[in-house]
Amino acid sequence: MLVLALETSCDDTCAAVAEDDEVRSNVISSQAAAHARYGGVVPEVASRHHVQLVTPVVRAALADAGAELEDMDRLAVTRGPGLIGALLVGMASAKALAAPARKPLVGVDHLHGHVAANFLSPDPLDPPFLCLIASGGHTLLAGVHDREGFEVLGRTLDDAAGEALDKGARLLRLGYPGGPAIERAAAEGDPGAFKFPVAMTRDPGLDFSFSGLKTALLYATRELGSEETERRRADLAASYQAAVVDQLSGKLERALRDDRWNAVALGGGVAANRLLRERTESLCHQRGLRLKLVSPELCTDNAAMIASAARYVTPQAFPDYLALDAYATKRAAA
Ligand code: KG4
Ligand code: ZN
Repeated sequence: MLVLALETSCDDTCAAVAEDDEVRSNVISSQAAAHARYGGVVPEVASRHHVQLVTPVVRAALADAGAELEDMDRLAVTRGPGLIGALLVGMASAKALAAPARKPLVGVDHLHGHVAANFLSPDPLDPPFLCLIASGGHTLLAGVHDREGFEVLGRTLDDAAGEALDKGARLLRLGYPGGPAIERAAAEGDPGAFKFPVAMTRDPGLDFSFSGLKTALLYATRELGSEETERRRADLAASYQAAVVDQLSGKLERALRDDRWNAVALGGGVAANRLLRERTESLCHQRGLRLKLVSPELCTDNAAMIASAARYVTPQAFPDYLALDAYATKRAAA
Protein backbone atom coordinates (compact mmCIF):
# COMPACT_ATOMS: atom_id res chain seq x y z
CA MET A 1 0.00 0.00 0.00
CA LEU A 2 1.39 3.41 -1.03
CA VAL A 3 0.65 6.24 1.39
CA LEU A 4 1.49 9.95 1.21
CA ALA A 5 1.38 11.49 4.69
CA LEU A 6 1.59 15.03 6.05
CA GLU A 7 2.51 16.01 9.61
CA THR A 8 2.37 19.61 10.83
CA SER A 9 1.38 19.27 14.49
CA CYS A 10 4.18 21.40 15.93
CA ASP A 11 7.22 23.13 14.44
CA ASP A 12 8.34 20.63 11.79
CA THR A 13 6.76 20.61 8.35
CA CYS A 14 6.85 16.98 7.27
CA ALA A 15 5.74 14.84 4.33
CA ALA A 16 6.60 11.23 3.54
CA VAL A 17 5.78 8.39 1.20
CA ALA A 18 5.71 4.85 2.56
CA GLU A 19 5.05 1.61 0.75
CA ASP A 20 3.81 -0.87 3.35
CA ASP A 21 6.53 -0.80 6.01
CA GLU A 22 9.22 0.67 3.72
CA VAL A 23 9.90 4.40 3.93
CA ARG A 24 10.29 5.65 0.34
CA SER A 25 10.86 9.28 1.38
CA ASN A 26 10.77 11.22 4.63
CA VAL A 27 11.14 15.00 4.27
CA ILE A 28 11.38 17.10 7.44
CA SER A 29 11.71 20.86 7.26
CA SER A 30 12.60 22.06 10.73
CA GLN A 31 11.59 25.53 11.85
CA ALA A 32 13.77 25.33 14.98
CA ALA A 33 15.83 28.36 13.93
CA ALA A 34 12.68 30.50 13.62
CA HIS A 35 11.67 29.67 17.21
CA ALA A 36 15.10 29.58 18.87
CA ARG A 37 15.17 33.27 19.76
CA TYR A 38 11.88 32.91 21.65
CA GLY A 39 13.19 29.92 23.65
CA GLY A 40 10.23 27.79 22.58
CA VAL A 41 7.71 27.20 19.80
CA VAL A 42 5.50 30.20 18.99
CA PRO A 43 2.20 28.81 17.59
CA GLU A 44 1.52 31.72 15.23
CA VAL A 45 5.04 31.59 13.80
CA ALA A 46 4.71 27.82 13.34
CA SER A 47 1.43 28.12 11.40
CA ARG A 48 2.85 30.77 9.07
CA HIS A 49 5.94 28.67 8.34
CA HIS A 50 3.81 25.59 7.63
CA VAL A 51 1.82 27.59 5.06
CA GLN A 52 5.04 28.51 3.25
CA LEU A 53 6.72 25.12 3.54
CA VAL A 54 3.98 22.54 3.08
CA THR A 55 3.78 22.56 -0.73
CA PRO A 56 7.56 22.35 -1.38
CA VAL A 57 7.88 19.67 1.31
CA VAL A 58 5.11 17.53 -0.26
CA ARG A 59 6.68 17.96 -3.70
CA ALA A 60 10.06 16.91 -2.31
CA ALA A 61 8.54 13.84 -0.64
CA LEU A 62 6.93 12.72 -3.91
CA ALA A 63 10.10 13.45 -5.92
CA ASP A 64 12.36 11.62 -3.44
CA ALA A 65 10.04 8.61 -3.61
CA GLY A 66 9.96 8.76 -7.43
CA ALA A 67 6.18 8.75 -7.17
CA GLU A 68 3.18 10.81 -8.27
CA LEU A 69 0.10 11.73 -6.30
CA GLU A 70 -1.87 9.53 -8.70
CA ASP A 71 0.07 6.44 -7.54
CA MET A 72 -1.10 6.75 -3.92
CA ASP A 73 -3.59 4.30 -2.44
CA ARG A 74 -4.44 6.75 0.31
CA LEU A 75 -3.35 10.05 1.84
CA ALA A 76 -2.87 10.61 5.56
CA VAL A 77 -2.59 13.62 7.83
CA THR A 78 -2.12 14.27 11.54
CA ARG A 79 -5.39 15.43 13.17
CA GLY A 80 -4.02 16.04 16.66
CA PRO A 81 -3.00 16.47 19.37
CA GLY A 82 -0.87 19.53 18.66
CA LEU A 83 -1.02 23.24 17.92
CA ILE A 84 -4.41 23.79 16.37
CA GLY A 85 -3.34 26.40 13.80
CA ALA A 86 -0.41 24.24 12.74
CA LEU A 87 -2.60 21.13 12.44
CA LEU A 88 -5.18 22.99 10.34
CA VAL A 89 -2.54 23.89 7.75
CA GLY A 90 -1.69 20.20 7.31
CA MET A 91 -5.34 19.14 7.23
CA ALA A 92 -6.39 21.77 4.71
CA SER A 93 -3.41 20.86 2.52
CA ALA A 94 -4.13 17.13 2.70
CA LYS A 95 -7.79 17.67 1.80
CA ALA A 96 -6.80 19.94 -1.08
CA LEU A 97 -4.45 17.26 -2.40
CA ALA A 98 -6.79 14.31 -1.86
CA ALA A 99 -10.10 15.77 -3.06
CA PRO A 100 -9.31 16.62 -6.73
CA ALA A 101 -7.49 13.27 -7.09
CA ARG A 102 -10.48 11.50 -5.45
CA LYS A 103 -8.12 9.72 -3.08
CA PRO A 104 -9.21 8.36 0.31
CA LEU A 105 -7.87 10.27 3.33
CA VAL A 106 -6.98 9.05 6.82
CA GLY A 107 -6.91 11.36 9.86
CA VAL A 108 -4.16 10.02 12.13
CA ASP A 109 -3.57 10.59 15.83
CA HIS A 110 -0.06 11.99 16.35
CA LEU A 111 0.69 9.66 19.26
CA HIS A 112 -0.50 6.63 17.28
CA GLY A 113 2.08 7.85 14.74
CA HIS A 114 4.89 7.75 17.32
CA VAL A 115 3.81 4.22 18.26
CA ALA A 116 3.58 3.19 14.59
CA ALA A 117 7.15 4.37 13.87
CA ASN A 118 8.05 1.01 15.41
CA PHE A 119 6.15 -0.89 12.68
CA LEU A 120 8.47 0.43 9.96
CA SER A 121 11.47 -1.37 8.45
CA PRO A 122 14.14 -2.30 9.38
CA ASP A 123 13.14 -4.74 12.13
CA PRO A 124 9.46 -3.86 12.57
CA LEU A 125 8.33 -4.49 16.14
CA ASP A 126 5.33 -6.70 16.81
CA PRO A 127 2.92 -5.97 19.69
CA PRO A 128 2.55 -6.45 22.58
CA PHE A 129 5.10 -3.85 23.70
CA LEU A 130 5.42 -0.83 25.96
CA CYS A 131 6.14 2.49 24.29
CA LEU A 132 7.41 5.54 26.15
CA ILE A 133 6.90 8.70 24.10
CA ALA A 134 8.63 11.76 25.54
CA SER A 135 8.90 14.97 23.53
CA GLY A 136 8.47 18.72 23.90
CA GLY A 137 4.69 18.34 23.70
CA HIS A 138 3.91 14.88 25.09
CA THR A 139 4.87 12.39 27.75
CA LEU A 140 2.96 9.17 27.40
CA LEU A 141 3.38 5.59 28.47
CA ALA A 142 1.47 3.48 25.96
CA GLY A 143 0.62 -0.19 26.11
CA VAL A 144 0.55 -1.44 22.53
CA HIS A 145 -1.58 -4.56 22.13
CA ASP A 146 -2.14 -4.34 18.38
CA ARG A 147 -1.32 -2.05 15.48
CA GLU A 148 -4.68 -0.28 15.40
CA GLY A 149 -4.21 1.78 18.55
CA PHE A 150 -2.77 1.82 22.05
CA GLU A 151 -3.80 1.85 25.71
CA VAL A 152 -2.87 4.98 27.66
CA LEU A 153 -1.16 3.64 30.81
CA GLY A 154 0.20 6.99 31.98
CA ARG A 155 0.60 10.55 30.82
CA THR A 156 1.89 13.83 32.17
CA LEU A 157 -0.47 15.78 34.38
CA ASP A 158 1.27 19.08 33.54
CA ASP A 159 4.48 19.76 31.55
CA ALA A 160 5.96 17.29 29.08
CA ALA A 161 9.44 15.89 29.83
CA GLY A 162 11.00 17.78 26.90
CA GLU A 163 9.20 20.95 27.94
CA ALA A 164 10.69 20.58 31.45
CA LEU A 165 14.15 20.25 29.89
CA ASP A 166 13.54 23.24 27.60
CA LYS A 167 12.33 25.40 30.52
CA GLY A 168 15.21 24.23 32.71
CA ALA A 169 17.72 25.09 29.99
CA ARG A 170 16.20 28.54 29.68
CA LEU A 171 16.62 29.12 33.44
CA LEU A 172 20.24 27.99 33.17
CA ARG A 173 20.79 30.10 30.03
CA LEU A 174 21.81 27.05 28.04
CA GLY A 175 19.84 27.81 24.88
CA TYR A 176 17.13 26.05 22.87
CA PRO A 177 16.29 23.21 22.33
CA GLY A 178 17.01 22.54 25.98
CA GLY A 179 17.28 18.73 26.04
CA PRO A 180 20.53 18.45 24.07
CA ALA A 181 21.92 21.60 25.76
CA ILE A 182 21.25 20.19 29.24
CA GLU A 183 22.72 16.84 28.17
CA ARG A 184 25.94 18.52 26.99
CA ALA A 185 26.27 20.63 30.15
CA ALA A 186 25.40 17.62 32.34
CA ALA A 187 28.33 15.63 30.94
CA GLU A 188 30.68 17.83 33.02
CA GLY A 189 28.51 17.82 36.15
CA ASP A 190 27.63 15.72 39.19
CA PRO A 191 24.05 14.35 39.07
CA GLY A 192 24.06 14.01 42.88
CA ALA A 193 25.08 17.62 43.56
CA PHE A 194 21.52 18.93 43.94
CA LYS A 195 18.50 17.02 45.23
CA PHE A 196 15.64 17.84 42.91
CA PRO A 197 12.27 16.22 43.57
CA VAL A 198 11.35 13.16 41.53
CA ALA A 199 7.60 13.63 41.46
CA MET A 200 4.92 10.95 41.52
CA THR A 201 7.18 8.29 43.07
CA ARG A 202 4.66 7.54 45.81
CA ASP A 203 1.78 7.67 43.36
CA PRO A 204 0.78 4.08 42.58
CA GLY A 205 -0.21 4.97 39.01
CA LEU A 206 1.87 5.57 35.92
CA ASP A 207 1.24 9.29 35.38
CA PHE A 208 4.04 11.85 35.29
CA SER A 209 4.47 15.39 36.60
CA PHE A 210 7.32 17.77 35.80
CA SER A 211 6.13 21.23 36.76
CA GLY A 212 7.38 21.01 40.39
CA LEU A 213 10.84 20.16 39.14
CA LYS A 214 11.07 23.33 37.11
CA THR A 215 9.99 25.36 40.17
CA ALA A 216 12.62 23.60 42.30
CA LEU A 217 15.29 24.61 39.78
CA LEU A 218 14.02 28.19 39.82
CA TYR A 219 14.31 28.31 43.64
CA ALA A 220 17.77 26.71 43.54
CA THR A 221 19.07 29.33 41.08
CA ARG A 222 17.55 32.15 43.15
CA GLU A 223 19.20 30.83 46.28
CA LEU A 224 22.57 30.46 44.55
CA GLY A 225 22.50 33.88 42.87
CA SER A 226 23.60 34.47 39.29
CA GLU A 227 27.36 34.11 39.77
CA GLU A 228 27.14 30.85 41.69
CA THR A 229 24.47 29.51 39.31
CA GLU A 230 26.88 30.18 36.47
CA ARG A 231 29.72 28.41 38.30
CA ARG A 232 27.57 25.38 39.26
CA ARG A 233 25.76 25.18 35.91
CA ALA A 234 27.06 21.72 35.00
CA ASP A 235 26.04 20.30 38.40
CA LEU A 236 22.61 21.92 38.14
CA ALA A 237 22.13 20.53 34.61
CA ALA A 238 23.27 17.03 35.61
CA SER A 239 21.02 16.94 38.71
CA TYR A 240 18.04 18.30 36.77
CA GLN A 241 18.50 15.82 33.92
CA ALA A 242 18.82 12.98 36.44
CA ALA A 243 15.50 13.98 38.07
CA VAL A 244 13.70 13.95 34.68
CA VAL A 245 15.21 10.61 33.68
CA ASP A 246 14.63 9.08 37.14
CA GLN A 247 10.93 9.79 36.82
CA LEU A 248 10.67 8.44 33.27
CA SER A 249 12.63 5.27 33.97
CA GLY A 250 10.94 4.79 37.36
CA LYS A 251 7.50 4.70 35.76
CA LEU A 252 8.77 2.48 32.96
CA GLU A 253 10.11 0.05 35.52
CA ARG A 254 6.78 0.05 37.34
CA ALA A 255 4.90 -0.62 34.11
CA LEU A 256 7.23 -3.52 33.34
CA ARG A 257 6.31 -5.32 36.58
CA ASP A 258 3.25 -6.37 34.67
CA ASP A 259 4.53 -9.22 32.52
CA ARG A 260 2.38 -8.51 29.48
CA TRP A 261 5.12 -6.98 27.33
CA ASN A 262 7.73 -8.53 25.00
CA ALA A 263 9.61 -5.34 24.25
CA VAL A 264 10.09 -1.67 25.08
CA ALA A 265 10.16 1.13 22.49
CA LEU A 266 11.25 4.73 23.05
CA GLY A 267 9.93 7.60 20.95
CA GLY A 268 9.91 11.42 20.83
CA GLY A 269 12.85 13.82 20.97
CA VAL A 270 13.77 13.01 24.59
CA ALA A 271 14.46 9.41 23.51
CA ALA A 272 17.73 10.76 22.09
CA ASN A 273 18.92 11.29 25.67
CA ARG A 274 21.83 8.99 26.46
CA LEU A 275 21.05 8.60 30.17
CA LEU A 276 17.45 7.62 29.40
CA ARG A 277 18.64 5.13 26.77
CA GLU A 278 21.17 3.57 29.16
CA ARG A 279 18.60 3.22 31.92
CA THR A 280 16.07 1.68 29.55
CA GLU A 281 18.70 -0.68 28.13
CA SER A 282 19.52 -1.97 31.57
CA LEU A 283 15.83 -2.36 32.49
CA CYS A 284 15.30 -4.42 29.33
CA HIS A 285 18.49 -6.40 29.86
CA GLN A 286 17.44 -7.35 33.41
CA ARG A 287 14.09 -8.62 32.15
CA GLY A 288 15.26 -10.23 28.91
CA LEU A 289 13.14 -7.86 26.81
CA ARG A 290 13.90 -6.43 23.40
CA LEU A 291 14.62 -2.69 23.29
CA LYS A 292 13.54 -0.97 20.10
CA LEU A 293 15.12 2.37 19.25
CA VAL A 294 14.09 3.68 15.85
CA SER A 295 16.47 5.92 13.88
CA PRO A 296 16.62 9.58 15.03
CA GLU A 297 14.55 10.83 12.05
CA LEU A 298 11.76 8.37 12.89
CA CYS A 299 12.01 9.15 16.61
CA THR A 300 11.25 12.89 16.45
CA ASP A 301 8.27 14.29 14.57
CA ASN A 302 8.06 13.01 10.99
CA ALA A 303 5.42 12.01 8.46
CA ALA A 304 6.71 8.46 7.81
CA MET A 305 5.30 7.47 11.20
CA ILE A 306 1.93 8.98 10.19
CA ALA A 307 2.01 6.95 6.95
CA SER A 308 2.77 3.87 9.03
CA ALA A 309 -0.19 4.42 11.38
CA ALA A 310 -2.45 5.20 8.40
CA ARG A 311 -2.24 1.58 7.25
CA TYR A 312 -4.17 0.58 10.38
CA VAL A 313 -6.89 3.24 10.36
CA THR A 314 -10.01 3.05 8.16
CA PRO A 315 -9.79 5.80 5.52
CA GLN A 316 -12.63 8.11 4.62
CA ALA A 317 -13.83 8.50 1.05
CA PHE A 318 -14.33 11.80 -0.80
CA PRO A 319 -16.25 13.96 0.13
CA ASP A 320 -16.75 12.65 3.72
CA TYR A 321 -13.31 13.75 4.90
CA LEU A 322 -13.87 17.38 3.97
CA ALA A 323 -15.64 17.68 7.36
CA LEU A 324 -12.72 16.12 9.25
CA ASP A 325 -11.60 18.43 12.07
CA ALA A 326 -8.33 18.83 13.96
CA TYR A 327 -8.06 18.50 17.76
CA ALA A 328 -5.56 20.23 20.03
CA THR A 329 -5.67 17.89 23.00
CA LYS A 330 -5.75 14.17 23.38
CA ARG A 331 -8.93 12.25 22.76
CA ALA A 332 -9.67 9.04 24.62
CA ALA A 333 -7.71 6.65 22.37
CA ALA A 334 -6.17 6.46 18.95
O1 KG4 B 1 9.89 14.97 19.22
P1 KG4 B 1 10.48 16.33 19.21
O2 KG4 B 1 11.56 16.63 18.23
O3 KG4 B 1 9.37 17.43 18.97
C1 KG4 B 1 8.21 17.54 19.72
O4 KG4 B 1 8.29 18.18 20.79
O5 KG4 B 1 7.17 17.00 19.29
O6 KG4 B 1 11.01 16.62 20.68
C2 KG4 B 1 11.65 17.79 21.01
C3 KG4 B 1 12.02 17.72 22.48
C4 KG4 B 1 12.56 19.04 23.01
O7 KG4 B 1 11.92 19.33 24.22
C5 KG4 B 1 14.04 18.74 23.20
O8 KG4 B 1 14.61 19.52 24.24
C6 KG4 B 1 14.03 17.27 23.53
O9 KG4 B 1 13.03 16.73 22.70
N1 KG4 B 1 15.32 16.62 23.23
C7 KG4 B 1 16.10 16.03 24.16
C8 KG4 B 1 17.27 15.60 23.50
N2 KG4 B 1 17.16 15.93 22.18
C9 KG4 B 1 15.94 16.57 22.04
N3 KG4 B 1 15.90 15.83 25.47
C10 KG4 B 1 16.89 15.22 26.14
N4 KG4 B 1 18.04 14.79 25.59
C11 KG4 B 1 18.28 14.96 24.28
N5 KG4 B 1 19.42 14.55 23.74
ZN1 ZN C 1 5.65 14.19 18.50
